[in-house]
Amino acid sequence: MSRLAARRILLGITGGIAAYKCCELVRQLRREGAEVQVLMTPAAAAFVTPLSLQAVSGRPVRTDLLDPSAEAAMGHIELARWGEVLLVAPASADALARLAQGHANDLLSTCYLAFDGPKFLAPAMNQAMWRAPATGRNVAQLEADGATVLGPASGSQACGDEGPGRMIEPADLVQALEAWATARGDSSPSPWAGRHVVITAGPTREALDPVRYLTNKSSGQQGFALAEAAVAAGARVTLITGPVSLPTPAGVTRIDVEAAQDMLTAAEAACADADLCVAVAAVADYRVAEVATQKLKRQDGVPLTLTLVPNPDIIATLAAQRGSRARPVLVAFAAETENVLAHARSKRSKKGVDFVVANDVSRADIGFNSEENCVTVLGPSGETALPKMSKRALSTQLLQEFASALTP
Ligand code: PMT
Repeated sequence: MSRLAARRILLGITGGIAAYKCCELVRQLRREGAEVQVLMTPAAAAFVTPLSLQAVSGRPVRTDLLDPSAEAAMGHIELARWGEVLLVAPASADALARLAQGHANDLLSTCYLAFDGPKFLAPAMNQAMWRAPATGRNVAQLEADGATVLGPASGSQACGDEGPGRMIEPADLVQALEAWATARGDSSPSPWAGRHVVITAGPTREALDPVRYLTNKSSGQQGFALAEAAVAAGARVTLITGPVSLPTPAGVTRIDVEAAQDMLTAAEAACADADLCVAVAAVADYRVAEVATQKLKRQDGVPLTLTLVPNPDIIATLAAQRGSRARPVLVAFAAETENVLAHARSKRSKKGVDFVVANDVSRADIGFNSEENCVTVLGPSGETALPKMSKRALSTQLLQEFASALTP
């Protein structure tokens, strides 16, 4: 497996003719298995279109600092946290000056300032601009601050000049990043690299009539946090979610459903090639036997009786279909208000799953619609009680637990 497999690379592209080479650069990085998030300055977009880079990177390209919809999906600070390494290529003379000064008035400079991992800069500019004392001072400052400067190469330039200032070739930039990955000494790539993870999240909504439904308090936060952690671990993630008001985590394939039966259909299809399926969704156990075609009318003094029939048990159905095969590893969450561990143990054997994550939902500070959670994981090799933490941090720990059941 390539050293760059599942590595999360932030690629900042600034304005310069060498920007056209970035499509090839992204293509080569993706071929090595890396995830590439492209950030472009407005000047860069004059040389190569965000659409081309989106097509080759497979991710929406980010250009604006003050774009509310993009910020809602992944804010500039989250972008900086997402990346493991930041490469600015081409780095124009102006970009070098602004980064050296610590400017933070556009998306790229803000991410550069907020990013605390390794930074690489591939300068590209006219030879006289490269030789200018001011550029030399800026480069020296950036190096003193810890950045690694790659190039520039010498040769004929787009403006007709000859000399130093050409961006080094995409293959050389890939090689530099491979050397960084090797130097990290991380010889064991993520067990989730290239794996397909399916997650159900949120509540389901079971219609009573055209305007009313049965549902529950699930906000989707736990399932979405797990999806984000799985992407960060290098997995391909399918997130099947009931109605929630959360933005889709970057890199996740989202399937929106309403009722339990729709969630089952989507989960069966997604699990055909899945390595792991985690049922975080709070699925309604019952639906009405017959959905009224018109709005139910109030009748004063007369109680309304609804006949409920059981919904299919999604995770148990997947377990039955799996039979004796090892894939996918199956995980259920157990939301309990009393005798939490005893009920969770019984759910593990009844549903035929590998793991159950026991969740005490009688507490207001964890479980439903809260930012933190506190669970016990019941798995093939015992039970592990985890401390209270954010749902995102918990998700990373849960993936470590589930990885023990993956087949090579
Ligand atoms: O969404 P949040 O606000 O972040 O809240 C998170 C959570 C509390 C919803 C989550 O942590 C959690 O505990 N999810 C499980 C909720 C639940 O429905 O638990 P259960 O004990 O009723 O179901 C057990 C398991 O069977 C669950 O994995 C559930 O997805 C699955 N199930 C249940 C019923 C059904 N018809 N099909 C299922 O697959």
